[in-house]
Amino acid sequence: MDTFVIEGGRRLDGTIRINGSKNAALPLMAAALLSDQPLTLRGVPDLADIRNMRRLLAELGVEIGDNDGGMRLHAVDESESHARYDIVRTMRASICALGPMLARRGAARVSMPGGCAIGDRPVDLHLRGLVALGAHIELEGGDIIAKAPGGRLKGDTIFLGGAFGSTVLGTANVMSAATLAEGTTVIESAACEPEIVDLARLLTAMGAQIEGAGSPRITIRGVESLGGADHTVIPDRIEAATYMCAAAITNGSLVLEDCPLDCLLAVTDRLEAAGVHVDPLEPGAPEADPMRRRVRVTAERVLRPIEVTTQPHPGFPTDVQAQLMALLCLADGNSVVTEKIFPERFLHVAELSRMGARLFRVGNTVVVSGVRTLKGAPVMASDLRASAGLVLAGLAAEGTTVVNRVYHLDRGYEKMEERLAAAGATITRVDDRAA
Ligand code: EPU
Repeated sequence: MDTFVIEGGRRLDGTIRINGSKNAALPLMAAALLSDQPLTLRGVPDLADIRNMRRLLAELGVEIGDNDGGMRLHAVDESESHARYDIVRTMRASICALGPMLARRGAARVSMPGGCAIGDRPVDLHLRGLVALGAHIELEGGDIIAKAPGGRLKGDTIFLGGAFGSTVLGTANVMSAATLAEGTTVIESAACEPEIVDLARLLTAMGAQIEGAGSPRITIRGVESLGGADHTVIPDRIEAATYMCAAAITNGSLVLEDCPLDCLLAVTDRLEAAGVHVDPLEPGAPEADPMRRRVRVTAERVLRPIEVTTQPHPGFPTDVQAQLMALLCLADGNSVVTEKIFPERFLHVAELSRMGARLFRVGNTVVVSGVRTLKGAPVMASDLRASAGLVLAGLAAEGTTVVNRVYHLDRGYEKMEERLAAAGATITRVDDRAA
């Protein structure tokens, strides 16, 4: 199993181009199940979760190849509709296959995803949405067995809000399924995340009729069939936010290219409040794509404490909570971090404490009492973003930090160590079996 060995205290200075978004790409790939025509997706990152999704889709009859700078997905065999536990357990996002498969094949069997390191993560809202579209759903042997009576779903009005807000992948599932349903579907309390907007853009290019994606009410007029499309994935807002925190925590200066500033306003608002500056390098250029800006990230020498609460988009993303907390460990005073999406998502708290951070957790709130320095230590966290937070802490800490089990990081960050090293970090990947 690989580890990262980090010698902290090096200032980052360089340029990082933001990759295509993992969380956008996963449901985009699953959309291949909605059509018998090929899709080409460009800018799909090379990550463990993407490779798992490829494996899953291949089992479901999708031929996948890489050519001409894109990933080509073509559903050539629609006879198999069972997403097996073997793959689903490696990646919760396998649930994205449920809606498309049910809508196109009239039936789907998807192993029920289990809990994970960041909490229980139920799928009741996904199922509620599909039942509202007429699906019959049963659980058998740990599998969700879904059938569309008469082979086709029927549009309806669906409320998709839950105790923790809407659901991103649930909205993706129901919206995808509704494209082929008979009649009109209205999703109320839909997730507004940019990944949903990107999916709607792809589905529209395939021939779907969708209005309102990006707002809490999405209207979908079902069509008989969908065609192929060629689509470029949006840049990864969470990767961009992570590198913003990396620049700030090392008191460095990073230029981020293809930075999706347009969907990072909550992040830049909180970073600015803490004394981190994110400055566009082509200010006012009217032709600049707001999702692909070139920005410079710098920080004041003394960071200010702030309050932050995670919320559904356009609020502060839960996927950046751990990275921001690492940064606030070094602010001059007490910060308050509240997690409203996954109230148990605090695996990094105990590990950051091992590095000298002063953190006090009560329920879903952590008070971060800033310290002058963090100290390198061996650490580990079994969640992708928590691990990213620990790498950031390691970049700033005095001495050596060893981040164990970086396969969690590899699920969401492509070649993170190489990109940080190119910007001046001292970080190496070590196979700990070889050590
Ligand atoms: N929820 C329910 N019932 C459901 C679905 C969700 O109660 O049927 C709850 C969840 O337990 C949570 C909240 O609703 O409290 C939001 O969960 P959501 O369904 O929106 O999460 P998700 O779609 O499964 C995606 C991302 C996560 C990200 C969340 C929130 C992908 C592949 N995953 O998950 O990303 O944290 O949205 O923004 O898109 C990550 O990249 O590290 C990651 C975990």
